[in-house]
Amino acid sequence: MTDKSLIDLSWDDFDEHRDPRPDSSDFDAVVERAISRRGFLGGALAFGSAASVFGAGLMSSTTAARAGAHGGFAFKPIGIATDHEIHVPEGYRHKVLVRWGDALWSEADGAYGDDGLVPVAMSDKVFGENTDGMELFDVDGKEVIAVNSEYVNPKINLPEASEGVPADADQVTLLKNFQGVTVMEVAKGANGYEVVKDSPLNRRITHETEMTLAGPLAGHDLVKTSADPEGRTVRGTMNNCGSGRTLWGTYLTCEENFNGYFGATGEMPEGEGYARYGIGGEGRYAYEKFDTRYDLSHEPNEPHRHGFVTEIDPADPTSTPVKRTALGRFKHENAEMVHASDGRVVVYLGDDERGEFLYRYVSTDTWEEGQDGGALLDDGTLYVAKFNDDQTGAWLPLTPETTGMDAAEILAFTRLAASAAGGTTMDRPEWVAANPTKPEAYVALTNNKNRGVKPNAGGDDTSVNGPNPRETNNFGQIARWVPEGGNHAADNFEWDLFVMAGNPTVYDNAYGGSENVTEGNMFNSPDGMAFSSDGMLWIQTDGDDSNEGEFAGQGNNQMLVGNPQTGEIARFMTVPNGAEVTGLCWSLDGKTAFVGVQHPGGSWPDGAGKPRSSIVAVWREDGAVIG
Ligand code: FEO
Ligand code: CA
Ligand code: CA
Repeated sequence: MTDKSLIDLSWDDFDEHRDPRPDSSDFDAVVERAISRRGFLGGALAFGSAASVFGAGLMSSTTAARAGAHGGFAFKPIGIATDHEIHVPEGYRHKVLVRWGDALWSEADGAYGDDGLVPVAMSDKVFGENTDGMELFDVDGKEVIAVNSEYVNPKINLPEASEGVPADADQVTLLKNFQGVTVMEVAKGANGYEVVKDSPLNRRITHETEMTLAGPLAGHDLVKTSADPEGRTVRGTMNNCGSGRTLWGTYLTCEENFNGYFGATGEMPEGEGYARYGIGGEGRYAYEKFDTRYDLSHEPNEPHRHGFVTEIDPADPTSTPVKRTALGRFKHENAEMVHASDGRVVVYLGDDERGEFLYRYVSTDTWEEGQDGGALLDDGTLYVAKFNDDQTGAWLPLTPETTGMDAAEILAFTRLAASAAGGTTMDRPEWVAANPTKPEAYVALTNNKNRGVKPNAGGDDTSVNGPNPRETNNFGQIARWVPEGGNHAADNFEWDLFVMAGNPTVYDNAYGGSENVTEGNMFNSPDGMAFSSDGMLWIQTDGDDSNEGEFAGQGNNQMLVGNPQTGEIARFMTVPNGAEVTGLCWSLDGKTAFVGVQHPGGSWPDGAGKPRSSIVAVWREDGAVIG
């Protein structure tokens, strides 16, 4: 396969290219087996047993929602859309806060030209491309958003280059600078929220920003390179996907598909860690041809320095970001931190690839209000989730005893450690969200066409299991768990499925979805999730928006709200065709929601020219709190 086709692949398909499934898989046979499981799935798993675990009333409330009431929602749910617009409920308004290419400083005014291009000299002075996870911080009363820019669209960014493949080092620099993190002050004026251009708090963090490697892997031979023989100073954070926030007010950016940036111009280094992470062959963007740092033949350890959760202080634009190796190395989706009832810091972490795992980090020491807890992310234990079919589960510690690997290897090759420990293979864990009103957490398992079809990249069996019950799962589901004793640091939990997405107008079996999925609220591929302070779960999708076949009637990607108490789900927002919804945070007063719209199609939002990923502000006309 050539570079030309590599950049056309979704990240999910890029994984498949690295690790193809056998040609012999028989879709009809797979579906037939799933249908035979109908009795097991027909509501019993999703709700029957759940009632005893999570309290009664689930079924009756769900039925009420189906009767057409607004249920407990503050808005009238909207229908699907197939157009290139944003839609929100009656009584709500929206506007674009910032588009990729918009100037963060006056010197970059007009940098984004009519041709949709930004000069390389301005490429790190504009809002980054492909907006993703974000969080809003109170910095001495100023509202500051830290937001990820996940990847680039080379065919748009480099129209003169052959099929978007960079032709020189400047073009590589351009692509590097469009990614990473943007920190920007926002303020509400006469025209609603806007970015505060030239704010001293504004900052771009890119593939070139210097950062510190911290935790047990720092200084290890596995992370030493020719430019950093000490193994403690890294350039850049890349493929920043989901986000998190610490108890002490810093931002967590999560490095997801970092593997695609590395390639080998000559001999590949040896080691099973490369294959498990999909590293090898040609890089997705041909960086390795112009920068030896990305060339595995020259710098075999450079990829070991990426794939982490990186901590950024949004209040200090001169601060050095810190890569927290203790939280493991994999395709990090987001990082959901909670303060466990025993005082320790817990971070839930998903690894978004088919058949990979759900993780949890628990600090060794406890945290107290007012404490800078950075060091708590360098000393703790990483666990992989084990889900049992009887709706119990356990967190399995990743230690030398359970994995046969030493402490540094566990953090560098966390996937290998989790396989050795016996974690449960999952349907692409995306965001984890913890309910602020009670001790429970949710994980979006977006989809997995390989469930029941082939093992994961490490050879682990991916037959159907409790929280991943459907073979060839194109719809996804959301699992949730309640930690034992209400303590997120406890070793055990009980779990159920909050929702199993599907299409009840096409299927009358497990692929029709759980009982809280109806013709009126159906969706596929849950991805982003966040709780509002009132304990409602906001669900964002990144799925098939063709509105055809088994996705007929589901329309464009969307944001829905789920009620954890009743199981009801209602559609709140739809985004332009082609876009996914990802990233959600709220203004300090809770009256505005900021929503990320990534990779739109058409010419949204400008109505002409190239499409531009953007953050949209949404608020109520009556000025009430939105979440
Ligand atoms: Fe970047 Fe798994 O989403
Ligand atoms: Ca995602
Ligand atoms: Ca996704």
